[in-house]
Amino acid sequence: MFNKLSLKIGMLFFVFILIIEILVYFILYTTIANERIEEVMDSLLARANTHSAILENNFNSSTMEHVAIMESESEYAVIITDEDGNVLINSDPIEKEMLDIIEHTDYEEIPSGGKVLEQRWTERQYIAADSPININGDHHGHVIMFANTNIVKNMVNHLSDQFVWIGITTVILTIITVFFLSRFITIPLMKMKQATEQLSKGKTKVSLHTDRKDELGELASTIMKLSNDLERLKKDRNEFLASVSHELRTPLTYIKGYADIINKQDISIHERKEYLDIIREETNQLTVLIRNLFELAKMDENRFIINRRKVELRKLIQTVEELIRPGLEERNIRFSVICPENIIANIDPERIQQVLLNILDNAIKHTSPGETISIRVIQNEMEIKITIEDEGEGIPKEDLPYLFDRLYRVEKSRSRESGGTGLGLAIAKEIIESHEGRIEIQSKIGKGTSVNIFLKR
Ligand SMILES: Nc1ncnc2c1ncn2[C@@H]1O[C@H](COP(=O)(O)OP(=O)(O)OP(=O)(O)O)[C@@H](O)[C@H]1O
Ligand SMILES: [Mg+2]
Repeated sequence: MFNKLSLKIGMLFFVFILIIEILVYFILYTTIANERIEEVMDSLLARANTHSAILENNFNSSTMEHVAIMESESEYAVIITDEDGNVLINSDPIEKEMLDIIEHTDYEEIPSGGKVLEQRWTERQYIAADSPININGDHHGHVIMFANTNIVKNMVNHLSDQFVWIGITTVILTIITVFFLSRFITIPLMKMKQATEQLSKGKTKVSLHTDRKDELGELASTIMKLSNDLERLKKDRNEFLASVSHELRTPLTYIKGYADIINKQDISIHERKEYLDIIREETNQLTVLIRNLFELAKMDENRFIINRRKVELRKLIQTVEELIRPGLEERNIRFSVICPENIIANIDPERIQQVLLNILDNAIKHTSPGETISIRVIQNEMEIKITIEDEGEGIPKEDLPYLFDRLYRVEKSRSRESGGTGLGLAIAKEIIESHEGRIEIQSKIGKGTSVNIFLKR
């Protein structure tokens, strides 16, 4: 239960709080203790002053006796002396320390309000206060009050006991608070750790509480998002593998089927040649498919290098036009190019040529004789826009979002005439995005399709 982090956080909190508590209690303790001691000293002096006031009014032996008898019953002791410090009367037996004080006092120095003579309560047995007896301005004697320092010591000890109890209670409360506080932080962290461990062991769906509004809540949300992404990725990968194996199986079935027929003895040379052509064509398509898949795999692994160069777009389009000219003429499709001469792009010309060929190949395949395919290039301060437009059959609205998906074809049957692998646009998108550009397709059934490529200048 006490995993490492909660222990660390707990100890850290605990030490900090303990230091603060010790500091606060120390200050509080010394202040209170000093105040109490001061109070005792003051009350001792006040008592001496009361006695001297009485004696100033009646300075005779019977009053002195009264005072002495009174103090003999109290926890204090009083000694009354003459003006030179000779003892006149004492309430309790005079101890050596009392005598010391009496003998070592300079009686001329005592102010009329009295004075504390001894206040070292930790070292001495008595603390003492002196109040002079002044009658009509003449100095007649002294009232010296003694208090056993045990009074002060007991009081301070009592205070210390109270502080020890308060201290123990606070430490226990601190430990409990710190325990819950550190668990409040570490329990969600432990849950997240378990969740990520499960994810790394292959579980795709984990559930965490994401309703906290702090960093831990955000972390939990991020892990949940990660787990959803992982699940989607796995689903995508399985679908993709299923499509790939389907794409490979279809031509292989053809090839095996026709090879079996050729093996039979009773077919004509003409038929044999026709079937061999089909086998060759299927093999070619398989090669293209595998090459494209390999290229996409390289792109996914980022092993795909873009060699940028300053290229004049008009020249690039001319090269492309020469390459597709036979196809255009064969199908009697018109071709128009609008491209200003001075447009220079910083691109990998081979890759962009591959993209344009892919898109034009699509356009030619879906355009009827007599219709037009056009390329337009324009640029502004930010980007260059290449539009490839055809007047062909168009693409159904529901297929538009999936055109850039791998192996996605609008006409699902893999007819040998159209012969596409469904990878052309996926590759085009990867290439354009690795140029930090973007590609979009708009299409209307019966009206035609237009592909826009945006490249940063
Ligand atoms: N100009 C267009 N007009 C009509 N349909 C199009 C057009 N361009 C693409 N399509 C549709 O989009 C699908 C995906 O195109 P993509 O280029 O990715 O694959 P493909 O042409 O079938 O195969 P490949 O390009 O790998 O030989 C095509 O199957 C086609 O149905
Ligand atoms: Mg294509």
